[in-house]
Amino acid sequence: MCGIVGYIGPREAYPIIIEGLKRLEYRGYDSAGIALFDGKDLKVCKTKGKVVDLENKLLNEISNSGSIGIGHTRWATHGVPNDVNSHPHHSNSGNLVIIHNGIIENYDSLKKELSSRGYTFKSDTDTEVLVNLIEDVKSKENVKLGKAVQIALNQVIGAYAIAVFDKTQPNEIIIARLGSPLAIGVGKDEFFIASDASPFIEYTKNAIYLEDEEMAIIRLNKDIKVRKIKDDSLVDPYVQELQINLEQIEKGGFKHFMLKEIYEQPKAINDTYRGRLLREDAIIKMSGVEDNMKKFLAADRIIIVACGTSWHAGLVAEYIFEDLARIPVEVEYASEFRYRNPIITEKDVIIAISQSGETADTLAAIKLAKSKGAFVFGVCNVVGSSIARETDAGAYTHAGPEIGVASTKAFTTQITVLTLIALRLARAKGTISSSDFRHHLLELEMIPKKVEKALESDAHIKKIADIYKDSRNCLYLGRGYNFPVALEGALKLKEISYIHAEGYPAAEMKHGPIALIDENMPIVVIATKKGHYEKVVSNIQEIKARKGKIIGIVTEGDVDVRELADHVIEVPETLEALSPLLTTIPLQLLSYHIAVSLGKNVDQPRNLAKSVTVE
Ligand code: AGP
Ligand code: GLU
Repeated sequence: MCGIVGYIGPREAYPIIIEGLKRLEYRGYDSAGIALFDGKDLKVCKTKGKVVDLENKLLNEISNSGSIGIGHTRWATHGVPNDVNSHPHHSNSGNLVIIHNGIIENYDSLKKELSSRGYTFKSDTDTEVLVNLIEDVKSKENVKLGKAVQIALNQVIGAYAIAVFDKTQPNEIIIARLGSPLAIGVGKDEFFIASDASPFIEYTKNAIYLEDEEMAIIRLNKDIKVRKIKDDSLVDPYVQELQINLEQIEKGGFKHFMLKEIYEQPKAINDTYRGRLLREDAIIKMSGVEDNMKKFLAADRIIIVACGTSWHAGLVAEYIFEDLARIPVEVEYASEFRYRNPIITEKDVIIAISQSGETADTLAAIKLAKSKGAFVFGVCNVVGSSIARETDAGAYTHAGPEIGVASTKAFTTQITVLTLIALRLARAKGTISSSDFRHHLLELEMIPKKVEKALESDAHIKKIADIYKDSRNCLYLGRGYNFPVALEGALKLKEISYIHAEGYPAAEMKHGPIALIDENMPIVVIATKKGHYEKVVSNIQEIKARKGKIIGIVTEGDVDVRELADHVIEVPETLEALSPLLTTIPLQLLSYHIAVSLGKNVDQPRNLAKSVTVE
């Protein structure tokens, strides 16, 4: 959600910032802006729309852009997306500019206070209030910019990642974070600032991830000073070496990141279990689980907290943990969990699932659980993310960067990690026999090849997509392990094609949704051989009797559903517990092709953000 990029050093800042903002486009945004200092003048340009609109607006205006600047992509929270509300925002004197990701919750009272003392505001944003508060502190207390930012932030309630520049102190940029990510790329005599490392990976592999409640004073040709916002104390920053490379964040010949990521799943799943699943020795090795085995085994229950697609992975995990490891599991929307006074004890194990590791609701749920003494385990994709750092222990999914807003490989790799954990615990508890355990390991190792096979239906799925692309509604049905897959399939379609879709347990259909079925309604039914097959076939009969159009996701060689359905898409056979890893694939491709044929922006669907860093 929103992107921040900054540069200070000997190079020209403009291209670095523009390219950086493009790399952050996947996070979701509605407007873009930039502030550049050429040694004399501070130039600010901003616009509703995309980064290319900003580039077009600046065409012919940028000759020597200077070597200091900050840029922003905004995801509006306060005030509609328009040119005025876009960032950067100036202070009243025109000396300070700010870019901000997050929400200043007490902006209204601060705004009234500042207005009463003569400050005026051009935009509807909370951000413009903050830059004027900083200016006010600076002049009242007669302090430098860094100190003014620190004092001002202590008066602020909310969440933020900010970068501030003052043209009267033009050799520095001040940044700070609370609840929204911010990284500093440390080069030779130059520094990069960004919401994640992707804007600067071709320039430097050394990065500092600012912690919550920290700020940094970044000066040209000087060392970075990191301080605690609360008490101004100095912090020794940890410079880490980045593992990602440029190739991983480029499209690599695919038309969209989403398609690339769908096709990356065989490798991503393999990367997830590599080094953890040791089939010959019949063991699963995961240090985060091993080191905390006592806590897992003593747990009365596991509570899974997550949002969106990660929540769906949590639902799949509920089936697998209860089925194989016989541990009671509850799956909670993080946003509900945090506000409903849940009962949490020290004997609970919380598993927080998050691709980005930055989702504000999930982070808040973790903090709540920790405050009640529960042990919190994280399943994240982004290494070094806030959730990865906030949890007591965890396991990375190792899916590699996921850029498409609609989650694909994150989902299947989350399920893979959770399956490994469930199997490991099942073994430790003795709820799975040794031969069954080995069988699961063997089947899991075959999943990447089977995903490749499932991907071979791509062209066939595209044809089906062309038939149903103009539908206004769509139902997705599945039972057992494949009920969460139905939810995920529906979410994928909604997110990128804007077609209304609902996922239901197949048997629930007759309790309501069946009323929607007519000859115009496509219904995707997951009807693989293992897992309530006959029951699902009966559900298909019920749909057929009402003339609904049936798209069956079936096991290779299926005969029964093929006879009833309008279309079938085959996936290879596997164990029931592993079937979501295969049945998900055609649903991802179906929504992808429908969205493409409707001409939608697949990688950056409207209104959505890749990581939702505000409540
Ligand atoms: C997935 O396609 C969505 N864009 C969204 O539901 C996402 O899964 C959710 O916001 C949670 O994100 P996280 O996994 O990064 O925490
Ligand atoms: N709250 C600010 C605004 O609405 C920042 C939004 C963002 O994170 O992009 O402008």
